[in-house]
Amino acid sequence: MDSGLKEKVALITGAGSQIGFGKAITLALAREGCHVIVTDIDLKGAEQTAREAKALGRKAMAMKLDVANHNEAKKAAQAATAELGRIDILVNNAGVCSGLKPFMETTEADWDLDIGVNFKGVMNCTMAVLPGMIERKYGKIINISSGGGLDGGARGVTYAAAKGAVIIFTKSIAVEMAALGINVNAIAPGFADTGFARSAPPGLIERVLKTIPIGRLTDVQDIANIVVFLASNLSNDIIGQTIRVSGTV
Ligand SMILES: NC(=O)c1ccc[n+]([C@@H]2O[C@H](COP(=O)([O-])OP(=O)(O)OC[C@H]3O[C@@H](n4cnc5c(N)ncnc54)[C@H](O)[C@@H]3O)[C@@H](O)[C@H]2O)c1
Repeated sequence: MDSGLKEKVALITGAGSQIGFGKAITLALAREGCHVIVTDIDLKGAEQTAREAKALGRKAMAMKLDVANHNEAKKAAQAATAELGRIDILVNNAGVCSGLKPFMETTEADWDLDIGVNFKGVMNCTMAVLPGMIERKYGKIINISSGGGLDGGARGVTYAAAKGAVIIFTKSIAVEMAALGINVNAIAPGFADTGFARSAPPGLIERVLKTIPIGRLTDVQDIANIVVFLASNLSNDIIGQTIRVSGTV
């Protein structure tokens, strides 16, 4: 079955972490035939990911991009379009969590970080790529939310709230863009052994594992597989959805 991904151009945010979802997503899209723009606040990491995508025979460029910065996102999209001609696919993957502390211990700086990167970052990058997508009447946007964005929960309240906002943003912008040939969907990953989980407090992973029916953490490849599906023509009739990928219901 032709996924329609050959020669498409994908921009992935937060793809510099060598153990994170972003790198797995980048390489999975490259394996399907996409050229990739690998972005992160960590340029060295983005360059490493881009090298591996290039080794798969694709065009790959690395760029420093802080998604929380509106103008930086705009400039990155313009530079990527100048270099590779267009952006067909955007994966809003970059994310941070200010900490798993009770709400009353959080600071305004924590809120700004959680909302600025996880929610405003998604809007910044979406707005940056949409002019080109609207012009060509084609686009696929995939937002990486979180199980916390669907369920909420104590500690990490502002992170969960920002990820919840991503889910409603996805639904709303998907309706605005549907008639223009642009699909917007989200993924809510479960707990995975990435940079995120490695900064979790001791004992948390063991406690989380007990709540997962399939008995294992989410793997980066689990997320990359669903991104490939949502970026492909196999999902053309799906808009505004958030797919939980977590081994839980
Ligand atoms: N790992 C999990 O358990 C889990 C669960 C649910 C959702 N998520 C989400 O998955 C996404 C990827 O995270 P991950 O688990 O691969 O973690 P990770 O820490 O390995 O990767 C996150 C990447 O985002 C980058 N980043 C941070 N702030 C940025 C900014 N302002 N601009 C651009 N890049 C920035 C980091 O440099 C890093 O490369 C995040 O949105 C996260 O919220 C992760």
